[in-house]
Amino acid sequence: MDERQRSTPYLDALAAYARRDPARLHVPGHKGGQGADEGLIAAIGERALSMDVPALTHGIDVGVEPTPFEQAQELAAQAWGARRTWFLINGASQGNIAAGLALAHRGSEVVVQRNAHSSTIDSLVLSGMRPTFAAPELDEQLGIAHCLTPETLADRLDQTPAAVGAWVISPTYFGAVADIRGLAAVAHERGVPLIVDEAWGAHMAFSDALPEHALSAGADLVISSTHKIVGSLTQSAMLHLGRDAGELIGQDTVDRAVTLTESTSPNSLLFASLDAARRQAAVHGGELLARTTAALARARQQIAEIDGLDVLDERMAGRPGVFAYDPLRLAVDVRGVAASGYELAPLLREIGDINLELYGENVLVAVFGMGERDLGEAARLVEALAEAARRVGREPEGERVRFAAPPPWGELAMTPREAYLGRQEVVPADAAVGRIAAESLATYPPGIPNVLPGERLSAETLAYIRSTLEQGGSVRGASDRRLRTVRVVVETPAG
Ligand SMILES: Cc1ncc(COP(=O)(O)O)c(C=O)c1O
Repeated sequence: MDERQRSTPYLDALAAYARRDPARLHVPGHKGGQGADEGLIAAIGERALSMDVPALTHGIDVGVEPTPFEQAQELAAQAWGARRTWFLINGASQGNIAAGLALAHRGSEVVVQRNAHSSTIDSLVLSGMRPTFAAPELDEQLGIAHCLTPETLADRLDQTPAAVGAWVISPTYFGAVADIRGLAAVAHERGVPLIVDEAWGAHMAFSDALPEHALSAGADLVISSTHKIVGSLTQSAMLHLGRDAGELIGQDTVDRAVTLTESTSPNSLLFASLDAARRQAAVHGGELLARTTAALARARQQIAEIDGLDVLDERMAGRPGVFAYDPLRLAVDVRGVAASGYELAPLLREIGDINLELYGENVLVAVFGMGERDLGEAARLVEALAEAARRVGREPEGERVRFAAPPPWGELAMTPREAYLGRQEVVPADAAVGRIAAESLATYPPGIPNVLPGERLSAETLAYIRSTLEQGGSVRGASDRRLRTVRVVVETPAG
């Protein structure tokens, strides 16, 4: 490790500015806390408010180069092994949007993994790109989607000769990691960059015991939700350009896309938290991850011993769409107890104030951070799960297999952007069959789109979404979250 990784230039410059009591003749109007509401001061403290300063503050973002802001991003690029890294203040969502805008400079078609996050779809709307979707592998037992295989990507790219990029997700919410080397080889053989939404995998760069992370496996542009597991403040994230991206994606193009998608008043506390989280990960990541993964392995074992429960773990590696498994998620298979994940999640809240990241019919997901000092929360989860399983009892049929694979997605009749911006009307859901959707309908969790703007709606898909709602799920993107109505495109008759 380079000794400079022990420093936090941006955080230090910010703290120094706050300490020296400057005349703050700039925004924000709370003036380092003096003008803030007393409730806010009591809640977050004067120190935090004193470090809330605008961009372009001399000695932090501007002045002698490289500025602390530039140094902090360079250290992040070094820590993750990127050619260049951008700090983001609107989450990995901003990273996805910027990635799409950058890609759109190369052409207008792109191959996208279907279970993309909603921000990837928003990026298609904003960039105007025409997607060819690639289906991830479905785990029919667990009723969840895993990753995309290199074979599927090759097939979709070959079907889409004008594609200018391939966009995949790894790891998934559930911890499945894709064969990024294989996917990168497929993309590069066809002369296109591989974009990896690694929102859930920022920690993987810091331990050899974890699956290889996307940048080291050959990805060209990597979207990283640093706040999720590495532990920077919510909303902070990074976008990394691969070392060998070469001419496949231009640095300047990405830079402009990042600028276009961010506020001109980025929050300095978010940037400082990225700088600090990078230091912690680079300096202590290995040991923190070793401790966390060992504690989670113990918790997994205890959960698997509870009657009716099982866990997802490295045994999944090798299944279709699961190249490796990221153990930083604790995913619990609840098919053996007489309650679905939708029913167990509120029960766990009631029993032990357990608040999960995600729950679906068959799987609950608890997320752990790489730097957690006290892994007592894993013990609380185990205890509450044991009590919940005891209360609901075993599934009488042994193991519930109620998985209904989502129906095939509809034909893309126009681009997501055309549909989003086109003339629209709201119609009763039954009358929407055969119409072109103007909105996304993504059953949630985990937010995988069943319908995207520009696709024709089928009766089957609408029935599938309705049944998810009846089971306690929700639908994201829909203007009517109960799906009584759907927003569709008004098609003008040809000729
Ligand atoms: C795969 C994936 N990409 C992107 C995002 C967006 O991340 P953020 O919330 O940091 O904007 C998420 C959020 O859950 C995600 O799961």
